[in-house]
Amino acid sequence: MANGVNRVALIGTGFVGSSYAFAMLNQGVTEELVLIDLNKEKSEGDAMDLNHGLPFAPSPTKIWFGDYSDCKDADLVVITAGANQKPGETRLDLVHKNMKIFESIVSQVMASGFDGIFLVATNPVDILTYATWKFSGLPKERVIGSGTILDTARFRYLLGEYFQVDARNVHAYIIGEHGDTELPVWSHADIGGRSVVDLVKERQQYKQEDLEEIFVNVRDAAYHIIERKGATYYGIAMGLVRLTKAILQNENSVLTVSAYLDGEYDQHDIYIGVPAIVNRTGIREIIELKLTEEERAKFAHSANVLKQVMEPFFQNEVRP
Ligand SMILES: NC(=O)c1ccc[n+]([C@@H]2O[C@H](COP(=O)([O-])OP(=O)(O)OC[C@H]3O[C@@H](n4cnc5c(N)ncnc54)[C@H](O)[C@@H]3O)[C@@H](O)[C@H]2O)c1
Repeated sequence: MANGVNRVALIGTGFVGSSYAFAMLNQGVTEELVLIDLNKEKSEGDAMDLNHGLPFAPSPTKIWFGDYSDCKDADLVVITAGANQKPGETRLDLVHKNMKIFESIVSQVMASGFDGIFLVATNPVDILTYATWKFSGLPKERVIGSGTILDTARFRYLLGEYFQVDARNVHAYIIGEHGDTELPVWSHADIGGRSVVDLVKERQQYKQEDLEEIFVNVRDAAYHIIERKGATYYGIAMGLVRLTKAILQNENSVLTVSAYLDGEYDQHDIYIGVPAIVNRTGIREIIELKLTEEERAKFAHSANVLKQVMEPFFQNEVRP
């Protein structure tokens, strides 16, 4: 923080990054927002365009296109740079391209003298969050991945539609990899304090098969959207703004993020999606839910899949 104002540096002003910048401006979350991209013209154009919206914004924001030296005084560096999924591609398929990009980005951010919090959204997000933690040398609490924040939002939205209840009153988590092995935590899904599992048992109009279909639609949502419009960006952008607010405004909010596990959920040395309390210090605390045997096994499988993909990159460091 310089001169008592919040500064967010955004690296990558593609679909996700520019949607995030737009949502940030609309919600008046930070005093300063600097846009950085390999494609300087794109970030310059975005800064110009966004500045023209300032007369309509809820509060003033200084927005400019910049370079890595601007990260020195940033409270938060948000990374949305890198390749996105093409139709048919999984998130894990992006690992080689994006790992290289991250090595370069994170070293340049750290060379500026940055000493804040990283928030990573680029896929595969769990692995790239781990890489950011390794490359930066920052404490684990100050490196956060967007994890399953979007999957959890999709889950809450679809459950809200099914039970005809405001999605904000649906409490349910998707945990694990942000990707094909993620899982729903049915054992802790509730609406206004009533368990979703009990609702389905007690009321004939609700069916177990419908719940299973809801989860499949959550898990595969990105594929369905990419088939139709080539990329997904509004949902994740709003999720990143929610996380930014939780951090900058010291909210102690419970959000499903990619967090470093050191024994929680019986996992070690991995970043993966779990509910956690997020505030100005980053990840204050991981919430360890009491999972069923089946959920625990699925979570362990998800963690193993991530570890296998990570192994070639951090060979001597990833524990079995
Ligand atoms: N975590 C999530 O839930 C979630 C959701 C949607 C998309 N994503 C991911 O976000 C990432 C970005 O997606 P997108 O659709 O915005 O892609 P995009 O191609 O529109 O934008 C990527 C941007 O990164 C920039 N870039 C590339 N290499 C760079 C470098 N070395 N330094 C600085 N900038 C660089 C490009 O110039 C481009 O502007 C992808 O990895 C995508 O899979 C994550």
